[in-house]
Amino acid sequence: MRIIIGNANEPLGFRICEYLDTKPVERKLTRFADGEIRAQIQENIRGKDIYIIQSTEPPAENYMELLFLVDAARRSSARRITAVIPYFGYARQDRKEQPRVPISSKLLANLLETAGVDRILTMDLHAAQIQGFFKIPVDHLLSDMVFDEFVMGLIDKQGPIVVVSPDVGGVKRLQHSNDELGADLAIIHKKRDEPNQSEALNIIGDVKDKVAFIRDDIIDTGGSLVKAAKLVKEKGASKVCAFCTHALLSRDAVDKLANSCIETIGLTDTVRLPKSKESILKEAGILQKVTISHLFARAINNIHHESSVSVLFEKKNYLNL
Ligand code: R5P
Repeated sequence: MRIIIGNANEPLGFRICEYLDTKPVERKLTRFADGEIRAQIQENIRGKDIYIIQSTEPPAENYMELLFLVDAARRSSARRITAVIPYFGYARQDRKEQPRVPISSKLLANLLETAGVDRILTMDLHAAQIQGFFKIPVDHLLSDMVFDEFVMGLIDKQGPIVVVSPDVGGVKRLQHSNDELGADLAIIHKKRDEPNQSEALNIIGDVKDKVAFIRDDIIDTGGSLVKAAKLVKEKGASKVCAFCTHALLSRDAVDKLANSCIETIGLTDTVRLPKSKESILKEAGILQKVTISHLFARAINNIHHESSVSVLFEKKNYLNL
């Protein structure tokens, strides 16, 4: 088994390699003057089981880089190529919700297969059914237990808790905490007229005098989350915390979060958090960084040894990672 780390999120790639006690494959990623990407694998990988780790934020150039690394690995006679995509970008464009728009995530699935990917490993897809866009196997990890750990670390056994989805689409992500932690559920009725323009209209469920944990898969501009937090607080939550898997933090998202009523926010490392953004959140005293590297490392290990990946969804196995 050999691991190739793309440019998008090198710290995560190195954490995964460290966990697996393996050295990443030497590779060179350079640019032509006009911006064209040139990838070269600098070691013999003939016959190897290859895992290419590449998040896709920002999406365009990182998808291209991933495709070129896959092609390079295929032409270097790798035995099997797994694209490890901790954050699968373009997942929000998964259907024709308006006339004359593309289904971008399906097109990307086609491109990855055409490049020669044999298998996908990813986490918290915006819509789980994107797995069906691929003909090849997709191992879809969930951050449910990471979220539960985050909640348990903050509640200090005080008071009732409620887990809140900022929209109807995210409700399924709360089921685990409802079962495992006995947390109450609440859902925000969100209206979106344009991408990145949303309104939190109302809450279904009771948040009064409870510690509220809002959980979302993506923070892009931060609008959805901050509006959800404000509404939850107005409806009487005693404290508002948040958790997000893919912290894209575009535009002024960190300033919005830093000035919001959110007391603690847990962000995983599927996407690299730039130092400048990290320091704004740290100065506001709200950031809790959470790694998912152990889950990806164990999943890679299990795929390589052809053992179960779903065992990682079982609490007793997760706690032993
Ligand atoms: C949308 O359905 C996603 O789950 C996120 O809620 C959304 O992408 C967040 O976008 P923003 O941070 O720009 O409101």
